[in-house]
Amino acid sequence: MPCPALPDGFDFTDPDLLQDRVPLPEFAQLRQTEPVRWIAQRPRVSGFDDAGYWAVTRHEDVKYVSTHPELYSSHLNTAVIRFNERISRDQIEVQRMIMLNMDPPEHTRVRQIVQRGFTPRAIRSLEDALRERAHSIVGTALEQAGPDGAFDFVTNVAAELPLQAIAELIGVPQEDRSKIFDWSNKMAAYDDPEYAITEEIGAEAALEIVSYAMNLAAARKECPAKDIVSQLVAAEDEGNLSGDEFGFFVILLAVAGNETTRNAITHGMHAFLTHPDQWELYKSERPGTAAEEIVRWATPVVSFQRTATQDTELGGAKIKRGDRVGLFYSSANHDPEVFENPGAFDITRDPNPHLGFGGGGPHFCLGKSLAVLEIDLIFHAIADAMPDLRLAADPRRLRSAWLNGVKEMRVTAG
Ligand code: HEM
Repeated sequence: MPCPALPDGFDFTDPDLLQDRVPLPEFAQLRQTEPVRWIAQRPRVSGFDDAGYWAVTRHEDVKYVSTHPELYSSHLNTAVIRFNERISRDQIEVQRMIMLNMDPPEHTRVRQIVQRGFTPRAIRSLEDALRERAHSIVGTALEQAGPDGAFDFVTNVAAELPLQAIAELIGVPQEDRSKIFDWSNKMAAYDDPEYAITEEIGAEAALEIVSYAMNLAAARKECPAKDIVSQLVAAEDEGNLSGDEFGFFVILLAVAGNETTRNAITHGMHAFLTHPDQWELYKSERPGTAAEEIVRWATPVVSFQRTATQDTELGGAKIKRGDRVGLFYSSANHDPEVFENPGAFDITRDPNPHLGFGGGGPHFCLGKSLAVLEIDLIFHAIADAMPDLRLAADPRRLRSAWLNGVKEMRVTAG
């Protein structure tokens, strides 16, 4: 059945749209009327040589596609649903070397190696250091606030812990940490003119990070430490992971671990400040379910994509081999078939089978436990030291085709 309420030319990956808002009402329309819908695009607007993509909006279908990599490939056109008109196919080819954009069995091989750095034990070993950092980040933000107590929550609070966690994980020395932050911003913010990131600047940042990673690896080969780099370098010695793959993995960590967690924390704070009952509840009870609801509510990654490997059918739509399929996690996370009252921010929601970390299957977020830990730690620290935080201005949103990003959120500490 067609969906008359969706205007002609409406595109869920339009960066101007996402700069303004996440299109939740339009997702709701599609879930009800045409849950897998063809979205036409001008040729090459996304960087791909095709006429558009299928928008998958129901929780059940997003999960199905995610867990059937033999039918829906991450490698053919990468998992990124939209680059921009200027990107060349050669540049997309380079992206295909990142684990996020591999298919089994190649993906399985790389993931088995890198996941050694993300065992529950490895994450637990970071907890004390990160707890201390969370408290010190919040303390410093308070000290640096203006005379009126105002500061930018994004740069002073939300951005810091994810950055420090990745740096801690891969053993980046303290003095180099801002480099990683700078590079990861340059690689992810290519759609926002405020940052004026040209392809050259993005490519340069990627190159800098790869060469930084290589040097780090060489140092760890000389002198192994208890960090993920040492683990990956050991694997390289065994012939498991190539030098390039190692560099690309560090790139993936820098982008996947920073932007996502930073935006979850910012949206979570915004949700608390606009739902004071939930903030009061959090401060008094600190429910362990809060972090997952923050990720559902924020859904920092609005969508990723897959490409059909053969003709198939999904949610009533006939999908052709080679068609791109957009997995709209934001829509799945508001699906009333799965979530009671999905429009309510409820930090006691349990169970909470949200798809903010992906729809399951081989690519399910490798950093999920670390992200949940970071979110827990930072909100504990904020509730302890800034219990009376207030919103000073509306958040300024990032212009992006697939990230639910916030660039700035002015707040006042009490
Ligand atoms: C709230 C924070 C985060 C969110 C919302 C998030 C979300 C996601 C999503 C949606 C995927 C793709 C799943 C798929 O394609 O099926 C993913 C993959 C990934 N994430 Fe996260 N992520 C977060 C934090 C992190 C952190 C902290 C790290 C690492 C330090 C990380 C590392 C990765 C990696 C390496 C992958 C690729 C996995 C693969 O291809 O096998 N993420 N994440």
